Amino acid sequence: MLELVDELRQEMEAEEMTSEDDVERFRIKYLGQKRGRITKMFKKIRDVAPEDRPAFGQQLNALKQETEARLEQARERLAQDRPDETVSIDLTLPGRRPFRGSVHPLTQTMNDVVRIFERFGFAVAEGPEIEDDWHNFTALNFPPDHPARDMQDTLFIEASEGGEGGVLLRTHTSPVQIRVMQEQPPPVRVVVPGRVYRNEAISYKSFCLFHQVEVLYIDEDVTFADLKYLLHAFARSLFGDDVRLRFRPSFFPFTEPSAEVDIWWENPDHPDGGQWLEILGCGMVDPNVLTAVDIDPERYTGYAAGLGIERIAMLRYGIDDIRLFYENDVRFLDQF
Ligand code: DAH
Repeated sequence: MLELVDELRQEMEAEEMTSEDDVERFRIKYLGQKRGRITKMFKKIRDVAPEDRPAFGQQLNALKQETEARLEQARERLAQDRPDETVSIDLTLPGRRPFRGSVHPLTQTMNDVVRIFERFGFAVAEGPEIEDDWHNFTALNFPPDHPARDMQDTLFIEASEGGEGGVLLRTHTSPVQIRVMQEQPPPVRVVVPGRVYRNEAISYKSFCLFHQVEVLYIDEDVTFADLKYLLHAFARSLFGDDVRLRFRPSFFPFTEPSAEVDIWWENPDHPDGGQWLEILGCGMVDPNVLTAVDIDPERYTGYAAGLGIERIAMLRYGIDDIRLFYENDVRFLDQF
């Protein structure tokens, strides 16, 4: 019987293993749980004479260990022969970028606008988005039941009676002019960034909410020339030194005279090579407004302006649909 073990050892040692399949075949052939050659040999121990059993068992155990050792060696050798898998980290690859959020284009534009006015000495003020009729309209010289109130499609929270006493979502940042002047005597020099709301048909160019930055300066001897100077300087800061501005006469209840300011937007695809686009309304504060907040219009004058932030952001970034600002699509926001 011992010769059988020797024979099996010779056979085992003659095996060659050059692939993982070979290794697996070898394992099954010799050590497989049911039909492995060595496994089966262990079962033959019954046929061995009792006095020879210990020697047989020892030999067979030794063979089993040798077989397992060969198997292990073959596995290690094959693992070393696979350089592309053992060194599987490419240290030259660039790292993965962590996802970073970005500042919303409207916030960026509003911050830039406010920063420019801060450089000209303006302080920042804020006011409530839920406003009363008096601050939003009456104090700003909108007469009760006057069609001027229809200029702004108001979203009411509580209806007003005869144009007085209603509660509404502010339709512009101008009511903060009133709040600031109620709180501090002239000179007043503030900018007011904020959200405003209107009940408008939603389209590529209008949305039910948008952003404005209000500008207010009240002092002795303030003139329309000062206003023009400021707005020219502002436009140059924001759009560059070559910017072209145009003041167009207009009407607002709270300013007299009033103007709207357009900037020239060059566009080679346009038949005229570009077009004038409105970015703000402005004017000299109407004496009635100063009177409403107990400022003497004989002594003080002032100017005011209201800038449309969406308009400016659309120009700056070449965005042609205002609704994109409000969809929160990361693919859009990621670009700024
Ligand atoms: N409040 C006006 C609007 O929303 C914009 C405006 C025009 C504001 C002229 C001003 C101004 O301060 O002087 O349509």
